[in-house]
Amino acid sequence: MSVAIDHVLEETRRFTPDDEFRKLANLKSFEEFERLYKQSLEDPDAFWGKFAKELHWFKRWKRVLNKDNAPFFKWFEGGTTNICYNCLDRHLSTWRKNKAAIIWEGEPYGERRMFTYLELHRLVCKFANALKNLGIKKGDRVAIYLPMIPELPIAMLACARIGATHNVVFGGFSANALIDRINDAQAKMVITADGGFRRGQVVDLKGAVDEALGKCPSVTNVIVVQRSHTPIKEWVRGRDIWWHEVMEHASDGCPAEELDAEHPLYILYTSGSTGKPKGILHTTGGYMVATYLTSKYVFDLRDEDTFWCTADIGWVTGHSYIIYGILANGATSVMYEGAPNYPTPDRFWQIVERYRVNVFYTAPTAIRAFARWGEGWPAKNDLSSLRLLGTVGEPINPEAWMWYHKNIGGGRCPIVDTWWQTETGQIMITTLPGAMSTKPGHAGLPFFGVKAAVVDEEGHEVGPDNSGLLVITEPWPAMLRTLYGDDERYKEFYWSKFSKHGWYFTGDGAYKDRDGYYMIIGRIDDVINVSGHRLGTMEIESALVSHPLVVEAAVVGFPHEIKGQGLCAFVSVPVGTVPAERDKDVLRDHVAKMIGAIAKPDQIHFTEALPKTRSGKIMRRLLRDIASGRDTTGDTTTLEDYSVLARLREERET
Ligand code: WTA
Repeated sequence: MSVAIDHVLEETRRFTPDDEFRKLANLKSFEEFERLYKQSLEDPDAFWGKFAKELHWFKRWKRVLNKDNAPFFKWFEGGTTNICYNCLDRHLSTWRKNKAAIIWEGEPYGERRMFTYLELHRLVCKFANALKNLGIKKGDRVAIYLPMIPELPIAMLACARIGATHNVVFGGFSANALIDRINDAQAKMVITADGGFRRGQVVDLKGAVDEALGKCPSVTNVIVVQRSHTPIKEWVRGRDIWWHEVMEHASDGCPAEELDAEHPLYILYTSGSTGKPKGILHTTGGYMVATYLTSKYVFDLRDEDTFWCTADIGWVTGHSYIIYGILANGATSVMYEGAPNYPTPDRFWQIVERYRVNVFYTAPTAIRAFARWGEGWPAKNDLSSLRLLGTVGEPINPEAWMWYHKNIGGGRCPIVDTWWQTETGQIMITTLPGAMSTKPGHAGLPFFGVKAAVVDEEGHEVGPDNSGLLVITEPWPAMLRTLYGDDERYKEFYWSKFSKHGWYFTGDGAYKDRDGYYMIIGRIDDVINVSGHRLGTMEIESALVSHPLVVEAAVVGFPHEIKGQGLCAFVSVPVGTVPAERDKDVLRDHVAKMIGAIAKPDQIHFTEALPKTRSGKIMRRLLRDIASGRDTTGDTTTLEDYSVLARLREERET
């Protein structure tokens, strides 16, 4: 493991929120932040207890944090609540009853739906009853494989209402990826659609489910939403049921189940440094309080705001900041089904104008794409409603930050650069917009209750401006509780590296500047962040090796102008085989089939053998240098076969 850079140039630009923003902000000064932050660490019981009380509990907790069985922490022990109740019912006795909870914009022009809190509540109750009618009980797992349509949050909230644990699988994953996730979670049911729209094309989700289910014995029912109205190839009687049919017969009275604070809310699979995706388990109480609080302070939510997070709900960002944290605050959440540039590169800005979006949250990869498409596109639309911008998912380069600030924020909107992970459940490092100034490329400071450090391999804190490993040194409320069904791997992956200290290891490299601001450099393990999506190199390598053309494969990342990082695969073929150029496409398609189109390598290099050390380890550093076109001047004397390196270089140069 090594951190990519040793020293970072100091960023001297500072952007401070104007007085008007500050005056109205939920948190108005740095002093106020410091006071609360101090309290959050010195007296977590009082701090978290105070904010938890802003939400509804059936039974009050006995202990805010139980550390007795570390790293299996418990939050709000003894308390009972329901996150769906807090996202919906809690607002019905207030004026928010008829406020828009979700504004949905479909990809095809003109398709839009608006759900008030009352209406969303009614639909969620109905669907919760539909689930119960089909035998889904508290504790059962339900896989959800849907496009970005309103039925997706309805299904998630309905599961949460009855205590079923949802497992949302991103609609871009293939049937094979679906099999692994359904089987690992032992899901009883799959909720899907006939098809989803993406850039005007229909993605056949039901077909993928049919293909997967032959290998998923735990599934007894499939609920199918009619979205694309495309013909269904296969309909399994007794197993498959239409969404609209189950809804027709379900009643709309369904009290929210009283659930233990540690009741499993959802599983979300994410890539790690091994071949198998990890089932991140989140529970109810701590996750609810922390997503509520981060939404309120990081996005400075006010009742009149329209908030738009552009993420797909298939990822954690959508879970926490399209649904749970935002609705727990009673805010209005925008949800868009399609691609940012369909049918034109200003689709996002049209949506901002139409709904007068006030707070906008997106990924650096999208910003870089917008920058490339040109400032003329945002300029065509009225973006004056925006008052706050956010980014997430990968480091934002200062140029993209400045472009965002100027062309989308009109030079007036603060930008919150939020660092967090599927595992953390909540935003961990960020600025708070009314209380802090921002610096391009720097995420900021740890949020309330979060204690972080940048350390070397031995756990010594490194000095300001030196890079090291990012660790979190105290438990936080929305933290993952385990890897589903695998406590040992949970301990090993996150807690073994600094077991002596009892710290959580993030897998990221970072540095901290003289003001204490963190800058995240990126993953230092075998995870590559492509367009803000986490991909494990081993997963892609296993997919490649499962093809007869491939003997061995090594996948590395290289800097990519839009995606942040691109994927480069080095593939060794059987002796005597002469691969053709078109075989690269064959392998790309194979990876798409095994994992999903997001995992297709950008570059493929065929080679007779991969460069290895004498002990047989693939020399990834060397491959990374080759992939990024850097000179391989490092020490290569351990190379077993110099000719391998020479051939790879030759191939690159020709
Ligand atoms: C990266 C997404 C720099 C990081 C919420 C982390 C970031 C991984 C930032 C988690 C940021 C996320 N600046 N890097 N603001 N936010 N990352 O699990 O490498 O999909 O470990 O969660 O994304 O990705 P995940």
